[in-house]
Amino acid sequence: MSESFRILGFAGSLRKGSYNRAALRTAVELAPEGIQIDTFDLDGFPGFNEDEEQRPPQVVTRFKQAIAGADALLIVTPEYNYSIPGVLKNAIDWASRPYGESAFEGKCAAIMGASIGNLGTSRAQYHLRQCAVFLNLQLLNRPEVMIGNAAERFDEAGRLTHDKTRRKIAELVEALVEFTHARSAGAEAKA
Ligand code: FNR
Repeated sequence: MSESFRILGFAGSLRKGSYNRAALRTAVELAPEGIQIDTFDLDGFPGFNEDEEQRPPQVVTRFKQAIAGADALLIVTPEYNYSIPGVLKNAIDWASRPYGESAFEGKCAAIMGASIGNLGTSRAQYHLRQCAVFLNLQLLNRPEVMIGNAAERFDEAGRLTHDKTRRKIAELVEALVEFTHARSAGAEAKA
């Protein structure tokens, strides 16, 4: 693992004023010294086509390289129709291919999400957890960061103003680092 712990964060919204992108920016802002969160915008991914997976577009190669270079991932999902948005699923599908060359294999990750509804992306997050099983992503279970009523928690500049939610995001980042260290220590002990 690199000296500074490196997390790659990506959010499944292309919207300029996205609450999920704003939540990810909050994680970047709150990351303590020694933890670096880089972000990857999911703009510009063409629709996944299995015919093209052996010659993926550049953006996919860059995304897979960014995932490979990170110690852990922070996936931020909106909720669309009780599930994860196509933009996020599409990027995940690209990075999981070709078969046997998935960028996600064994990677540690945490998830969070923001929605304007009361339930704060809970249904989308559980769909994402289902995808994570096939991807063999090692997902942190707790804390669950489900940011409901997002319009009331972010100001017009996209700053998360809800203190309790800010603390939860900081907790999530720290828990992800501990979880990743614990898993890699376990793997070394077994080797
Ligand atoms: C939504 N939204 C939404 N919200 C929710 O809580 N549950 C849902 O199932 C849905 N479904 C849904 C479908 C589609 C197609 C859109 C465009 C929106 C509302 C959603 O929470 C809201 O648009 C958020 O602001 C989206 O996240 P970003 O873009 O702000 O990050």
